Amino acid sequence: MTLNFTEFRKRASRNINIDLSSYKTKRVKRRINSLMDKNDIKDYNECLDLLKTDKDFKKEFLDHFTINTSEFFRNPKNFNYLKEEVFPELFEHNNKVKIWSAACSDGSEPYTLAIILNELGINPRRFEILATDIDHQILKTAKKGIYNENSVKKTETAILNKYFTEQNDRYVLDPKIKNKVNFKQHNLLTDSYRSKWNLILCRNVFIYFTKETKKKITQKLSNALIKDGFLFLGNTEYLLKPDSYGLTKEYTSFYRR
Ligand SMILES: C[S@@+](CC[C@H](N)C(=O)[O-])C[C@H]1O[C@@H](n2cnc3c(N)ncnc32)[C@H](O)[C@@H]1O
Repeated sequence: MTLNFTEFRKRASRNINIDLSSYKTKRVKRRINSLMDKNDIKDYNECLDLLKTDKDFKKEFLDHFTINTSEFFRNPKNFNYLKEEVFPELFEHNNKVKIWSAACSDGSEPYTLAIILNELGINPRRFEILATDIDHQILKTAKKGIYNENSVKKTETAILNKYFTEQNDRYVLDPKIKNKVNFKQHNLLTDSYRSKWNLILCRNVFIYFTKETKKKITQKLSNALIKDGFLFLGNTEYLLKPDSYGLTKEYTSFYRR
């Protein structure tokens, strides 16, 4: 039987343990087709066989599918709001502030938080940063804490000089900052969520999900927040009706539970 795209997607999802139907169809199709072209794979049957039998191909398939683009201080205005408004409020009202960076990619995002908290002079015993991603490989990169110039292009020079050491065109993050973030693998679609977070960042991953998935995940994230906790989304990821998730909009990309 020749597999059509829908059937292939179903079977490939089982194989890679990621429900591909939760992601936007057009994008998934485009990325799979480009990978097939690149590897001279003639049809979905052959692609599925390779997924089942060739570990290297399976890895390439997963790498091709997850887009890990990130950078330190991505959308600086938002991180400024976090520093000036959100963190002061959270630390005024809570002895310990629990922060979850979901879909954290290479760690630039959670490490940005650790840098800001250090700049604010907050005692590390007063916060916890958990950073998660579905992608094993990118978590390994994150734990290394070594970046290229592109990752730090939005970082102010003073911060760059204070927290990074330059080695052969690479930027090595200060171990004191690295130690403040815990990394763990987590799939937003299938794994359970810890609750009572004061702040959750879930940025630039909704763009890949279908509308239904986005709604489901937003509700789960909202439920995982403590009252008066904040959800921080990507700049292009608006919630049209935040109140339907028990949230109110505070500022561009910030929603309060
Ligand atoms: C574009 S990056 C965003 C990184 C960072 N949050 C930022 O805004 O700079 C998207 C990340 O989402 C991750 N991702 C995709 N699907 C996921 C899922 N179901 N659960 C958790 N992470 C997922 C990818 O592995 C990738 O690292």
